[in-house]
Formats: sequence, C-alpha cells, structure tokens
Amino acid sequence: MMENFNNQIIKRSPSNIAIVKYWGKHGNQLPNNPSISLTLNNCYTETKITYSKIENPNTLEMDFYFEGKENQAFKSKIEKYIQENNEHFSFLNGLHLNIESHNSFPHSSGIASSASSMSALVLCLLGIKDKEINLQEASFLSRLASGSAARSVYPTMTLWGKTPSLAESSDEYAISIADNIHPVFKSYHDSILIVSSKEKSVSSRAGHSLMNNHPMAENRYATARKNTEDLLAILKQGDLDGFIKIAESEANQLHDLMATSTPSYTLKEANTINIIEKILEFRKETGLPICYTLDAGPNVHLLYPDSCSEDVHVFIEDVLKNYCHNNKWIDDHNG
Ligand code: PMV
Repeated sequence: MMENFNNQIIKRSPSNIAIVKYWGKHGNQLPNNPSISLTLNNCYTETKITYSKIENPNTLEMDFYFEGKENQAFKSKIEKYIQENNEHFSFLNGLHLNIESHNSFPHSSGIASSASSMSALVLCLLGIKDKEINLQEASFLSRLASGSAARSVYPTMTLWGKTPSLAESSDEYAISIADNIHPVFKSYHDSILIVSSKEKSVSSRAGHSLMNNHPMAENRYATARKNTEDLLAILKQGDLDGFIKIAESEANQLHDLMATSTPSYTLKEANTINIIEKILEFRKETGLPICYTLDAGPNVHLLYPDSCSEDVHVFIEDVLKNYCHNNKWIDDHNG
C-alpha cells in the first residue's frame, strides 16, 4: 500500500515466517545460510511519515510514535540505523520526520515485529526519495536493519541468501520466488497459536551471536543450504510431504541449536510441546497435510493448505485453543 501526498507517506509491511531458518550471521548483517519464508498478510506494521524541511541542511530530526505514544527507545534505534547507513540516506538531511507506527497484531502477542516494522520504515523512507520504490533496494536496506525484514518486502514466498539453483539470489537482499511455486503454496495458511505473550528471555541478536562458536555451526549451515535447495524443488512440485519434513526439522533444529549453545537456553514452554503433540496426533488421525514451525519463541505456527482450513479451524477451536495464552490465536495466510 502506498500513499504520497502533502509530504506524507504511508506504508504497510507484513511479518513473515521462515520455513528454512536464518540463524547465524557475519559482516554487516549477512546471513551464514540462505533462508526461505512465507510472507504473512494479517500481521503487519503500518507506518506513516510526515516530513518537512528544517533550517540546517546537514541534520536530520525526528519524532517517533508507536501505537500513538512517543517512544524514545525505538527512536534511538532508528537514528542509530540511519547514522550507521548514512551513505544510503543522505536524502534525509535537512528534514524533520514525524514517524507514527502501529502493528495490526497486539504488542503483547509475542509475535516478533522487527521484520514488519523495519521493512515498513524503510519503504516509507524510500518513498521520500522515489515515487516508484525499487523493491530490491528496499530489501537490501531492510536487511541492514533486521535480517528477516529483507524477506518482508515481497508477497507470497521469498528467498534470501545465495543458493546455487537461483542465479539471481543474493546474500545482500531477498528475492521473490512467487513465480517458482506450485499454486497450493500460494494460498497457504499460518495459524499462530499464542503460547506466551512475554518478551523473549534471549533476543535474536544474542542468539545469532551464540552461533559464532557453536560446535554444530558448520553442520547447521550445510543442512540449511541443502534444505533450501530441496525446498525450492518441493515448492515447485507442490510436494506437501516434502514441505512438512523440512518445515518441522528446521523448527526443531533452530531450537536444538539454542539448547546446545553456550550458554544454553530454551524458548519453548510446556504448551509449545503440548500443541506440537496434538498437531502430530491430528495429522496421524486425519491424514491432513498440516505441520508446525516455530520462530525464536514459544508460539507455534500451524501451517496448512487452503483445502484443510475448515477442518483445521474446528480443531483449533476445539483442542489447540485450550493450550493458548488467554485462548488466543491469530488466523493468517500468505498474501
Ligand atoms: O531478523 P532477526 O535478526 O530477528 O532474526 C530472525 C531469526 C529467526 O526469526 C529465528 C529465523 C528467521 O529466518 O526469520
């Protein structure tokens, strides 16, 4: 979505859920392995920037409001990001920015918002410079703010990171793979089962850096590279069983890496495990091609094709909801 009138830009950018996970980085936010994600639709950040000229042509001034309230911590984060990547943002000098941002999903839902918020911010900033935004540039700049944000600028499904079978892939920015996937993956659902709304005890930033001397790091990167190549073929063929195997093994590997880093930690909670067990039981009983994945947190993402959505919604309402914090779940799909 884009609007640009009277020195005002409004952009909306969604969150995404990785199927092959990005976990471990080097240099300036470069990934140690490629990743593939599903772009969500209902979980998004909407950002509005109103800009005006100031007297000093060499400085940038800003105010930042999150959910209607001035937020100094976010403002400092954005200022630091713009300063560190100053060479790409010289067009902001001499401006005052009034930035207002809100999320469609509740702040306390435990859903990571850096992918949607940083990509929405970058899209707005680029909207000050250009009428037509170059999505590759938006992905590149979003990556510098938050790695997974690089994947949020394209709809449906996205690949970030160099992989042999796609010559146009890059570690610097994500690319859309929407044209390379079977129709069954173009309307995939992600029902997010909220196990906890608490803030993560260990941030993703700390998690990435624990990969630096992780005993399984090289093995992990090799597995992720293979899973990326395999998943690209699976997505093209519409192979639901192949998708399930990779999605679940990637989720488990991510959390196993946390459990085996030094210091070790876990972000899963009892109800994370309870929900996973129920999903596996339901799949066995019904034969429906549903599966789970996990982000860096306790919430469970239940993934399934559109054809299962009626049965799965009944299953969530009857069974899974009881394991969710305040019975809360978010119905989303790729968009
Ligand atoms: O974008 P970051 O630095 O918050 O890292 C995200 C890492 C995971 O969400 C766990 C996996 C991924 O690929 O999105």
